[in-house]
Amino acid sequence: MEDRIKALLAEVEAFQAKTADELEAFRIKFLGRKGLVKDLYTQFKDVPNESKREMGQKLNALKESITARFESQKLSFDTAVASAPSGEDFTRPTGDLPLGARHPISVVRREILDIFARIGFTVADGPEIEDDWHVFSGLNFPPEHPARDMQDTFFVEKDPDVVLRTHTSSVQVRVMESTPPPIRIVMPGRVFRNEAISARAHCIFHQIEGLYIDKDVSFADLKQTLLYFAQEFFGKKAKIRLRPSYFPFTEPSAEVDVYWGLETEVDYRITKGTGWLEILGCGMVDPNVLKASGIDPEVYTGFAFGMGIERIAMLRYQIGDLRAFFENDVRFLRQFSATL
Ligand code: PHE
Repeated sequence: MEDRIKALLAEVEAFQAKTADELEAFRIKFLGRKGLVKDLYTQFKDVPNESKREMGQKLNALKESITARFESQKLSFDTAVASAPSGEDFTRPTGDLPLGARHPISVVRREILDIFARIGFTVADGPEIEDDWHVFSGLNFPPEHPARDMQDTFFVEKDPDVVLRTHTSSVQVRVMESTPPPIRIVMPGRVFRNEAISARAHCIFHQIEGLYIDKDVSFADLKQTLLYFAQEFFGKKAKIRLRPSYFPFTEPSAEVDVYWGLETEVDYRITKGTGWLEILGCGMVDPNVLKASGIDPEVYTGFAFGMGIERIAMLRYQIGDLRAFFENDVRFLRQFSATL
């Protein structure tokens, strides 16, 4: 038995697995349920009593060295697996990963939502593919009313009830239908209009809608909220002006311009030489709209506004052509990597 142990010890020490299968075969041969170690322990019973102590120690030492051999080779295989099959070590730390840049529309959207979050507006969301009710009828556009022509709509020929939303006002309706007042939300999203693409217009753009409904909400609240926004976003010196306007879903309605000044050529271009740029439409929510969504206009009043993100981003970043937002030219996008 002593010789046998010696021979096995030599075999174990010389053992070098080339593949994981070889290592597994080694384990089974020595340490398996019917393996050699088990055999030796069975034979150990017949060892004469006077040699038991010595032989027991040798046997234990053999078992330990087999286990140690197996474990150390297993470890080297485990690491090697990570580097197979190309021979590269994927566990090594990488070099610096190049960082992308947020799209300027995302940068501005986040900033606007942040500004409104600070005065208690939470964010709501709605579908881009809408039905007539949420885009028009629920917002007090009667079926044949010419106000529908204010927005060139993409319809689906097969089903005139399906439209791509032309404004995020559709989300107002969805929220009013499902949430009892008070409501204080902002609703960012992509909208679609059948417009000829130019430096100032596109068939896709982005809006942020706002809606505030509670008891005793007044036009003064609307004005103050918009002034707060303009000054937070454009700086404390920013001025706004409200011009009377018309929207079917607000009464009275206004268009809001922000004064940007005329410092650069782009300012001239974007503001048509006036220094003022229209950034949003707004007004007091029409009682018919409240009623259509199940809110009692005798109890509640509210204001709403909708702004175009592209326009605001153009002013902020001096972008003279709206199309740049949609062309995904990396030379354009890379310029915003510092605005994370
Ligand atoms: N939905 C209008 C538009 O897209 C903007 C608007 C929103 C006006 C809310 C008033 C109130 O032009």
